[in-house]
Amino acid sequence: MSHVFHRNLNAPLPKAVRGDGVYLYDEGGKAYLDASGGAAVSCLGHGDAEVIEAIKKQAEQLAYVHSGFFTTEPLEALAGALIDSAPKGMETVYFTSGGSEAVENAIKLARQYYLERGESSRRTIIARRQSYHGNTLGALGVGGNAGRRQPFDPMLVDGVHIAPCYAYRYQLPGESIESYALRAADELEQAILMQGPRNVAAFIAETVVGATMGAVPAEVGYFKRIREICDRYDVLLVLDEVMCGIGRTGTMHACEQEGIVPDMITVAKGLGGGYQPIGAVIISQEINNMISQGSGAYKGGHTYNGHAIACAASLAVIQAIGQRGLLSKVDEMGNLLDKKLKSQFSDHPFIGDLRGRGLFRGVELVTCKGTKLPFSPSLGLSTAIKNEAMERGLVCYPGYGGVDGARGDHILLAPPFIISEAQIDELVFKLAESLEAALQKSHAYEVAA
Ligand SMILES: Cc1ncc(COP(=O)(O)O)c(C=O)c1O
Repeated sequence: MSHVFHRNLNAPLPKAVRGDGVYLYDEGGKAYLDASGGAAVSCLGHGDAEVIEAIKKQAEQLAYVHSGFFTTEPLEALAGALIDSAPKGMETVYFTSGGSEAVENAIKLARQYYLERGESSRRTIIARRQSYHGNTLGALGVGGNAGRRQPFDPMLVDGVHIAPCYAYRYQLPGESIESYALRAADELEQAILMQGPRNVAAFIAETVVGATMGAVPAEVGYFKRIREICDRYDVLLVLDEVMCGIGRTGTMHACEQEGIVPDMITVAKGLGGGYQPIGAVIISQEINNMISQGSGAYKGGHTYNGHAIACAASLAVIQAIGQRGLLSKVDEMGNLLDKKLKSQFSDHPFIGDLRGRGLFRGVELVTCKGTKLPFSPSLGLSTAIKNEAMERGLVCYPGYGGVDGARGDHILLAPPFIISEAQIDELVFKLAESLEAALQKSHAYEVAA
């Protein structure tokens, strides 16, 4: 009997023993093509010799110091590398152990920034429905993932939520895509006015929505208008790139493709590539200066801030992305994956939408392409597809609730940046087989008829 308090206490898991490139192996020797990099984490794939070497070297030299007592070489070097790669105007980096912690600290930094400015009424954080910003109480409180919020709702800080930018579902008949993007963004202005601009500290959004909706980018013009609205009301813009950042969409930071610079960017997952648990808040010069020239100290802190081995591993990951030309590989392989998914699934009666950027792709299921009605959550379709895929040696990430918090099934794909064309073929083939098996077993054809 296992003494681990697993996520699901009643479903046994295969035991993974080894990883190599895009494949994971269980104790029986079965190979699994890791088509989601876990949860969009393993950007370099598994068993990367350079990252492993960097970890070994750092562990031998120095593993841990308290971040209030010392700085270290890997910590300084990683912060420098991240600022070099970040949009102009970003100045410093606050390191955490993961994505939720990064979001928690971005929220607190927003609050402290306004306290230092003498605007103590600013405390509200506005976010979007169908978004996920982490599972700690603060991050869950700002997030808009209804399913994950529900059991803890009475304990959460009340979040203010606007609609996501999701043209497939919310663009009106006859409305141009440009008008839709602006209409969606203008909801932020209405929300700020409702709250009272002097009470709002920040707006947080995933640049490309990940787990909750399945790789949904915003339409052109959306984030430019969001930036204008934030500037007009002096509200900070925090872009959560925990899932979509660090090269996943073909640029180091997803916001580069939106042509805007936020006030803070949260990153994690691909930052450590799965080799070490690490996250970060990338902070603008304005926020950095307000605090450094004000009280001089951020009122936060975690034991493992800037852990030396985590930083050394992450630095090796960032360097590998640059030195191996992986951003253009993400672009090239992302386009190929998109093409192959479209050729396999575009005519499938239950695939409503195929979307995403780079190697961050979503496949949304519907009962009918015309009505776009989702399947009943009671079928558990996305989980059934994931289970069928595991049987066939494919790891993909199931998502649900993307339509309205409860309904909607999608599959998220986020393979390592090193995936080859033959492996993309294997991915699409196994996904198609898994989809068909799950549809048959859950009687989806009869339900939809
Ligand atoms: C956009 C986004 N923000 C925050 C988080 C939380 O990160 P973590 O699970 O590392 O705490 C996630 C995790 O999936 C995420 O996708």
